[in-house]
Amino acid sequence: MEFTGEIAEIQQQLARCSDIAARRLAVAQTLAPRRGERLLEIGCGAGLLLRELALAVGPHGLAAGLDISPDQIGAAEAECTGIPAAKPEIGDVRALGYGDAVFDAAVAVQAVEYVPEVETALAEIRRVLKAGGRFHCLATNWTSSFWHGPEIGLTARIASAWENHAAHPNLPARLAPMLARAGFTGIRQLPVPIVNADFGPAAFAYWLARLMAAHAAREGTAPGTAEAWLAALAAADAEGEFFFSSVPILTTAIAA
Ligand SMILES: C[S@@+](CC[C@H](N)C(=O)[O-])C[C@H]1O[C@@H](n2cnc3c(N)ncnc32)[C@H](O)[C@@H]1O
Repeated sequence: MEFTGEIAEIQQQLARCSDIAARRLAVAQTLAPRRGERLLEIGCGAGLLLRELALAVGPHGLAAGLDISPDQIGAAEAECTGIPAAKPEIGDVRALGYGDAVFDAAVAVQAVEYVPEVETALAEIRRVLKAGGRFHCLATNWTSSFWHGPEIGLTARIASAWENHAAHPNLPARLAPMLARAGFTGIRQLPVPIVNADFGPAAFAYWLARLMAAHAAREGTAPGTAEAWLAALAAADAEGEFFFSSVPILTTAIAA
């Protein structure tokens, strides 16, 4: 999935919903940025976490934000205007334009799974981290996400299309050995669950459903399928019969 145009717009709205604001806080607290540190965010999207990291490291630190999408970096530049430490820029994690061992920590939220050459990306992240540097990577095993409300076959068609929206749709399951091979140690994995019993705009599920519907339509599901699924979700919600759960995993590691 490329985060440009309509897809970038939906993703940017998703990033602002209450569930993701709470998750951003949890990620920032776990990373625990210190004043003066040099941080790198991979796939920074609209720059909401980047802004928080830049404020935390202060004007003598650095919060470099990298994203392959010009639309996302345009939004990140607007979000981080006037914050000296924030440096959003277009780039590809597979070929980082930084020297060796220049960052104290790196973070990637729902980003690394979109990179087909994920082992190249991890090697690059390890290369730019100082020894002892922290890498925090949040991703989701998408196969385990659960939707209740619409007829099961309809949800299955949308979920099936979603399986190929990322190069590695179940990255957390495979990440620990990949990190060890890339030169990381102290690997830990923590659940950061999301539960929605409401299908309103404050909920992650509301925006995720729109991303999944847009992707399914592009993948050539039968005409009307995506619209029917969104309508069925809203109808289930109106009847008090909507439920969604997902367990993103925050993987933390130390550069050996
Ligand atoms: C699901 S979005 C997440 C954005 C942001 N981290 C957030 O949580 O709101 C994934 C982001 O990764 C970016 N991305 C995908 N492949 C990339 C690559 N090879 N290098 C840098 N960024 C990449 C996309 O452009 C997109 O903005």
